[in-house]
Amino acid sequence: MELKTLNEVEINLVTSSKINQVDFENLTFGNIFTDHMLVCDYKNGAWQMPSIVPYAPFMIDPSAKVFHYGQAIFEGMKAYKDQQDAVWLFRPDENYKRFNKSATRMAMPEVPETVFLGGLKKLLEVDREWVRKGKGNTLYIRPFMIATGHGVIAAPSQEYRFMIILSPAKSYYSGEVKVLIAEHYSRAANGGIGAAKAAGNYSAQFYPTKLANEQGFQQIIWTDDATHTKLEEAGTMNVFFRINDTLLTAPTSERILDGVTRKSVIELAKRENIDVEVRSVLVDELVEAAKNGSLKEIFGAGTAAVINPIVGFSYLGTYYELPKLENAIALEIKEKLTNIQYKLADDTFGWTVKI
Ligand code: COI
Repeated sequence: MELKTLNEVEINLVTSSKINQVDFENLTFGNIFTDHMLVCDYKNGAWQMPSIVPYAPFMIDPSAKVFHYGQAIFEGMKAYKDQQDAVWLFRPDENYKRFNKSATRMAMPEVPETVFLGGLKKLLEVDREWVRKGKGNTLYIRPFMIATGHGVIAAPSQEYRFMIILSPAKSYYSGEVKVLIAEHYSRAANGGIGAAKAAGNYSAQFYPTKLANEQGFQQIIWTDDATHTKLEEAGTMNVFFRINDTLLTAPTSERILDGVTRKSVIELAKRENIDVEVRSVLVDELVEAAKNGSLKEIFGAGTAAVINPIVGFSYLGTYYELPKLENAIALEIKEKLTNIQYKLADDTFGWTVKI
């Protein structure tokens, strides 16, 4: 695909870049931001002219609905630099479509493609030095929209702000990831907002995840809210289970985010003739497979997390450790996926888009 161009944009550049103060080898995920950001306001029923301005705090009315009712959505994307210094995006159209789906679910206005993708292209052109060469280096892209309208009446805002900020990133998790299978708390329910990338979906996980962290687990694998018997997603990533030589992952639903990395893993695995089943995976099935040795791998898949192996899981107080494999599918898929993203392998799927 070709990214649309944003013709109408106001640009106000920094007088001096802070790039030389950044230690790109030692980045904590999502902690450092580039010199510029994109801002576009919605008022009087229309999107206004976007601007690219120096990254900085901004003023917002204390009664803005984002503060009181959490009317806020976001996306997660990445930019990669190839050997020839060209900057690439990975399936940006998927993020754009999902963003507007989230907007509809949260009673927010859709953002035009010229603003979302055209604006992103412009912003990346301005801050392209921040996309570092070399596998493992990425520029994490965070488009988001908040309700800025004045007044605490519990109704959708009439005003919104769409923004894009950029953060140089390496890995999301440092160290091993152990997970807890949810027994009581739920991430999402049918008819709710689980499939939207709504801010509240993430903050609602903070408390149960804090409890899990205190027990030595980095993440929770959420189960369905009605029965807590089906494995769903991990909140920061979708999850895959390898039983014998079959990869299993839950189908997307009203409760599960339709992850771009998730769907790419499924397509890549199929191309590699790996057996993939998209179906409900039961907690009992996982425990049984862990006990009889047929459970070989669990891994997470997400933009920030990329492909992250999980070393073990706990359920009802018992910890099950996974085998350490030489030929893990997670690593094979990660290699194939990142080679496409960094343009080190042919992109036969047509997923990569040049800036
Ligand atoms: C992403 O993977 O981009 C996400 O949005 C997950 C977030 C928790 C970092």
